[in-house]
Amino acid sequence: MALIVLVAALLALFVHLIIKNHRFYCIYNLPPGDFGIPVVGQTFSLLHSLRSNTDDQWFRTRIKKYGPVSKMSVLGSPTVLLAGPAANHFIFTNESLVLTQTRALRSLLGRSILTLNGDELKQVRSALQGYLRPEMVLPMARRLTLAVICSVVFGQEAATIVETLAADFQLLGAHGTTSALITFMIRHLANEPDVLTKITEEQDEIADNKGTADVLTWEDVSRMKYTWKAAMETLRTVPPVFGSFRTAAKDIKYQGYDIPKGWKVFAAQSITHLDSRFFNDPTKFDPARFDNRSSIPPYSFLPFGGGPRMCPGTEFSRVETMVAMHYLVTQFRWKLCFKEETYKKDPKPTPVFGLPVELEWRRPPSTADAWNALYIHSG
Ligand code: HEM
Repeated sequence: MALIVLVAALLALFVHLIIKNHRFYCIYNLPPGDFGIPVVGQTFSLLHSLRSNTDDQWFRTRIKKYGPVSKMSVLGSPTVLLAGPAANHFIFTNESLVLTQTRALRSLLGRSILTLNGDELKQVRSALQGYLRPEMVLPMARRLTLAVICSVVFGQEAATIVETLAADFQLLGAHGTTSALITFMIRHLANEPDVLTKITEEQDEIADNKGTADVLTWEDVSRMKYTWKAAMETLRTVPPVFGSFRTAAKDIKYQGYDIPKGWKVFAAQSITHLDSRFFNDPTKFDPARFDNRSSIPPYSFLPFGGGPRMCPGTEFSRVETMVAMHYLVTQFRWKLCFKEETYKKDPKPTPVFGLPVELEWRRPPSTADAWNALYIHSG
């Protein structure tokens, strides 16, 4: 009896919510789509797709069914899923779309500075950009890169070092994106011998032009052009940040549809990164597609986001990644212990077995120690 009453009460609540929503929103021309089960919406199905790394198919199925602008419900909020470069431009540059985060969103995206807005945001960004100047970045990059290599190559035990060093930044989460990039470069290069050979040639040339006690300079990092293309290709195929949420600060319109105040707007990076209209044969790992950056349509490649809230750590992560790859490819060769190891999005992409590798010396360092080897200074 009690169960029947409970089920009837729940049904009445669902019907009430549906009618209330319908009455409230019937003045708007809402995008097509559905909110799924009341309250829960599409949350579990999206989370499941992230965990099983099938989110790209998940988005594409919705886009095929409803088109590039569709409504759904995620983490208890009505949300508009946007797809395509024009939609990315809209989400990253429209001033009425703000980056607010509910507790649920924070736990999904795991970033704290993204909760700031307005003057507070401007102050923090300008302080950060000042802090991340080359002369500040290089000594930190040296220490953090060693820590990132340690945790990528040697695993969890070394993670403590990373945590300690990352505290320098007061920006937990920032080093996780760079270590995801380095992790997936290691994974790609193990399966792409031609790309590894080209990177090795580039890095050997840089190493061979230096004395044994010489350290990497900014000039060296800027000569790592092919290696950076391989990094960008890694960011395209496995972006460390899977997408961006914004909240409509007022009623706005996009492509003839209304987005009511308070609704969330969401764009996933894979939607354009893996679209054959913008990247030919999109699942192929091919750094050469970045030979001509102007051939890539604006707002279709956005690993660092875009507009006023674009990642201020882009240069920092480039230096970290290039320094890490320099010492890895010149000194080591590696094999994946599980060649077909898959990964989940948690939401940061994470190999399911932690990407164990068999590592062997290619060319042991001739310099005194690894700390020296990782010392870089502005040239
Ligand atoms: C490969 C490495 C990295 C990737 C792929 C990455 C990606 C991103 C993306 C996509 C956003 C924008 C999110 C949005 O608009 O919704 C972002 C924001 C941010 N990133 Fe990064 N990031 C990386 C490394 C770093 C590093 C090393 C730092 C700091 C040293 C950093 C600091 C930040 C900060 C502070 C923001 C917030 C900016 C704002 O809201 O105004 N990131 N990052």
